[in-house]
Amino acid sequence: MGMVICFVLGSFLSVPLILHCRGQLTIQGIRDNMQWTVVGSALVYVLGLTPAVTAQTGLAPKKFLNLPLGQVKPSGWLHDQLIVQTNGLAGHEHEFYDYVSETDWTGGPSYYSNLEEAGSYWFNAMVANGVLVDDATIQSQVQYFLDYVLDHQDTDGWLGPEVGTTKPRFLWGRYPFFFGAIQMVEYNSSLAERVVPALHKFVSLANTMIHNGEGLEDWTNTRWEDFVMTLQWLYDFYPEGNEDLLIDTMKMLKLTGDPWEDVFKPEYFPQTAVEDLTNPFPELTWHGVNMAEGLKALPSTYRFTHNQSDLDAASTGWDLLFQYHGRPSGIYAADEYLAGLEAVRGTELCLVVETMFSGSYLYQVIGDPKFADRVERITYNALPATLTGNMWSRQYLQQQNQIAARNMSPNPFPLDGPYSNVFGLEPNYPCCTVNHPQGWPKFISNAFVKTPDDSSLVHVYLGPFSTQTTLANANKVTVNVDTLYPFSDTLNTTITAAKAFTYQVRIPSWVTGGTISVNGAKAKPVAPVNGLHSVKVGAGTTRLVLNLPADITIESRPHNSVAVHRGPLHYAFDISRGQKVLAQNAQQPMAVDLEFDATETWQYAIDPSSLQFHNEPPSSGTLPSPVFDSGLPPMSITATACEIDWAIAGTTFASAPPSSPACTGPATTITLRPFGSTKLRIGEFPQLKITA
Ligand SMILES: *[C@@H]1O[C@H](CO)[C@@H](O)[C@H](O)[C@H]1NC(C)=O
Ligand SMILES: *[C@@H]1O[C@H](CO)[C@@H](O)[C@H](O)[C@H]1NC(C)=O
Ligand SMILES: *[C@@H]1O[C@H](CO)[C@@H](O)[C@H](O)[C@H]1NC(C)=O
Repeated sequence: MGMVICFVLGSFLSVPLILHCRGQLTIQGIRDNMQWTVVGSALVYVLGLTPAVTAQTGLAPKKFLNLPLGQVKPSGWLHDQLIVQTNGLAGHEHEFYDYVSETDWTGGPSYYSNLEEAGSYWFNAMVANGVLVDDATIQSQVQYFLDYVLDHQDTDGWLGPEVGTTKPRFLWGRYPFFFGAIQMVEYNSSLAERVVPALHKFVSLANTMIHNGEGLEDWTNTRWEDFVMTLQWLYDFYPEGNEDLLIDTMKMLKLTGDPWEDVFKPEYFPQTAVEDLTNPFPELTWHGVNMAEGLKALPSTYRFTHNQSDLDAASTGWDLLFQYHGRPSGIYAADEYLAGLEAVRGTELCLVVETMFSGSYLYQVIGDPKFADRVERITYNALPATLTGNMWSRQYLQQQNQIAARNMSPNPFPLDGPYSNVFGLEPNYPCCTVNHPQGWPKFISNAFVKTPDDSSLVHVYLGPFSTQTTLANANKVTVNVDTLYPFSDTLNTTITAAKAFTYQVRIPSWVTGGTISVNGAKAKPVAPVNGLHSVKVGAGTTRLVLNLPADITIESRPHNSVAVHRGPLHYAFDISRGQKVLAQNAQQPMAVDLEFDATETWQYAIDPSSLQFHNEPPSSGTLPSPVFDSGLPPMSITATACEIDWAIAGTTFASAPPSSPACTGPATTITLRPFGSTKLRIGEFPQLKITA
């Protein structure tokens, strides 16, 4: 065998790097995030203590690709829901809300502050919102924002308010802006001409900054994956010959960022509320929103490490998060920091929408249907529950058992203020006012995906949609899904295609006895593989009727309590409420802070063996608008129940459900409603056997 001898001299991280290779092949990782690729037969010696960056084989493919913004549109009740959002706080805040108000958009310093957080969040959300409801006003607002930011790029590449000032430059505030800009280019590719060069220029500067240890602070260090995803979008679609720089920047972000692969390890992951624990990693990694965003760190890492262990760790971390902090509404609890399982601890609205987005990305990279199942549950339960039906007022924190929404005394949230569960303009912190509008639009945009070879279209999130895209071989395909789902088990899908292709539809894990009928043929049992049922669709029109029933299921919760589900919906006792206006915005009277107080008894235990499902489909065929408010969804579950002794903690929240309750009154029947339509509720019930 011939001897291979090589010496490589160079520098990395400003540390001299010397390689000396000779003889038989060895391939070794020197540090977690760095890879060797040694071609040929060689023995590798490292002299000095540095990692090396060598040729990478590019980015690993995702399992599924998202469709560009605008190719998936909402229809039916979901279109109406987005209209409700557009007519509510989300669509109007630009007119009056300080942080994103156009009155500040005159180019002065207050405008610039928008790119530190508020403007970025708003932009990221409203780009999609404007396109999905064809709203010309919103589209011109985001166009203005985009133009302004690009027009004011510094000559060195910096984007944002820290141009021509001595303000310190930190990277993170731009990341949601990048997501918005990417969506605009997806929707209108002629914008690439301006956006792509501006991004490359910024990346070049950012790369130098990161190598010099600049631009980084605690929040940037937790949220590095959002920049990595932007770099990967450039790499995938507009690399412009900068592949090596893009990959190096990804690696540097991971190297300098918080170690999510360790945070999500079972041996370190917190199994209780964290206020009395010590985080072995930077403290902000246990912050609810950072964790929601950090769920994307490992799948995005996988794309440049090609390391299956990154995907395994992402999947394990997801499971741990919901095992120890999960809610029957689909989401997890973090009232600032991870908050365990107790039903009165809070879940921040920002983490609801960020987890939905992260779950969509996890599904697209990994392909495990558990991510899609959970995103759907969060979207149809936790998201609408934390906004008023008209979407003008939102909470900072929602509770699984929420018997009042008011200034709380005492305060059940160790690190958030007593006002956190009020429905209002900006209870506790303003961030969710500008960030919540991404929830519905991004759910919609990610509802269909395609396989990387463009051969197959996949319907991921069930609900009413219309989709138009072009698959391989210039195959123009349109899909219309007509359904009231999740307020119906039936989905009627009409597909038109120029050529034959494979259509796939997700069958959620909770479906029992699901059937599909193709072009009027007799219905057959669905046969999902890895959560997807495939249909060979011919050229022309194909009609599918899916029927996806589900059993009522009972989830065990702390203190021997139970939570009730059927299909994608979680059901709760909707406590009737009285309302008090606590505040009203001076410019916009619709923007109110609302206190809700219970006007009926809520201290019930239920008999889980008595549950019965009821569906009263609307005779008009359409759901009320809005649908996510008390008594409006057509589905309910009745339970045999009785009143029990169940204390109020302090004056305003329920103590833990009594674990061995006794009836204090006669058996009665209570009605449980979809969680998303309740604003005050019991979602975790004491249980007992009730004999009538
Ligand atoms: C792959 O992951 C394993 C486990 O985390 C790690 O030990 C190894 O260094 C990683 N390899 C690369 C090339 O990143
Ligand atoms: C796309 O962007 C170009 C360039 O800004 C603009 O002229 C055009 O009107 C846009 N098209 C749509 C459909 O928005
Ligand atoms: C779905 O199709 C079935 C069978 O063609 C029909 O009976 C039903 O009314 C349709 N439902 C909707 C929501 O269009």
